[in-house]
Amino acid sequence: MPGAFILGIESSCDETAAAVVRSGEQVISNVVASQFATHQPYGGVVPELASREHLRAIVPVVRQALAEAQHTYDSVDAIAVTQGPGLAGALLVGISYAKALAFALDKPLIAVNHIEGHIHAVLLDLSQNDPSNSPSQTALLNNDEPQRGHHELQFPVLALVVSGGHTHLYLAAGQDSSWTYENIGHTRDDAAGEAFDKVAKLLGLGYPGGPVIDRLAPHGDAKAIKFPPAQIKHRDRRGRNDGKAVEQDPHSETGHPRFDFSYSGIKTAILRYVETHDMRAAVEARRKALLNIAKPKLEDYLAHCDQLTLNLVASFQRAIVDDLVGKTLAAARAYDVATLFVTGGVAANRELRQTFEREGAKQGLPVYFPSRPLSTDNAAMIAAAAYPKFLLKDFAAMDFSAEAALQLK
Ligand code: KG4
Ligand code: ZN
Repeated sequence: MPGAFILGIESSCDETAAAVVRSGEQVISNVVASQFATHQPYGGVVPELASREHLRAIVPVVRQALAEAQHTYDSVDAIAVTQGPGLAGALLVGISYAKALAFALDKPLIAVNHIEGHIHAVLLDLSQNDPSNSPSQTALLNNDEPQRGHHELQFPVLALVVSGGHTHLYLAAGQDSSWTYENIGHTRDDAAGEAFDKVAKLLGLGYPGGPVIDRLAPHGDAKAIKFPPAQIKHRDRRGRNDGKAVEQDPHSETGHPRFDFSYSGIKTAILRYVETHDMRAAVEARRKALLNIAKPKLEDYLAHCDQLTLNLVASFQRAIVDDLVGKTLAAARAYDVATLFVTGGVAANRELRQTFEREGAKQGLPVYFPSRPLSTDNAAMIAAAAYPKFLLKDFAAMDFSAEAALQLK
């Protein structure tokens, strides 16, 4: 089988993942070891435990990815690894292992931005689902590597990356093998996935919150509780690497309009709702009951939720979805984009996908998501994002390090 086979390694948060991807367009293997069970009792990711679990899992996960792909350490063409953003200690495990492999095997090493990985997860699925995409039909570059086959993609592309760590809007442009990104919006406090996780925690629903809320929401009345739309009055707590706050600026550095998000207010509103409606005892009982069930099913969650809780969950999800879709489509209009990508863990959310598809269609805007398994953290997206860099020979020096707050440009 022709093409370049890249081994991707991802360890930025609470998943240890490895994958083999051919020429950025075909997933040969994709192994994800989740640490949910480790972090579940704490209701969120504990960084020290995450690093320890990555150390345990990294070697078997990489071995499994190679075995499932029927590859060996020697037969892959390059090794790609997430450089950041993410938890510094967790990133270091993947980076150290990738460096050791690249050094011992004398293979090129490619450092990948995790957010760029999420964007390339969409391109990867587009390539995989493109029937015209076979190596014989795609354009060949000088070095005889097949170029990725998303011929029909219309630019400009607007990408919403929405996960546990990010709620970011990027204008993405791809030319030949080179991609550039301009950030035109981000969350000023909590990421949308973080809000799902915190709300699930304060309702005693466990960790991670997104998948549980996704499944419970259809059982509640989304119109039952009104949350006021997010108003961004506070200073930006996330906009700078040095941690210092800056005043809200409705324009980007390039003078273009910005579309920022804020999700800490809705979390506080739900906390207040729980207190004013005397739900605390019921929340604690639910938390304990669910902790005693190894892998709770939908029936278990439903058995421990009253209608008020289900309505709260449904109303919360509706508010987040409406905000994400409303702001993203407003940005799409302002920048007159031709294509929309929605990616990251929260892009697995069914109501979000349906609403984006419905509202995007009204604007005549094609909306693309990764398949649900490629929406959440995985290493196939890292190997896919590494492919353009592989073609450009944009390899990492052996002394590169983890960057917890790495920005995408
Ligand atoms: O992309 P991801 O796996 O990791 C980060 O880069 O953060 O995203 C994880 C986040 C978590 O906050 C999780 O609760 C959320 O994505 N998530 C979801 C769903 N599946 C995962 N949120 C809403 N609905 C889902 N189905
Ligand atoms: Zn992610």
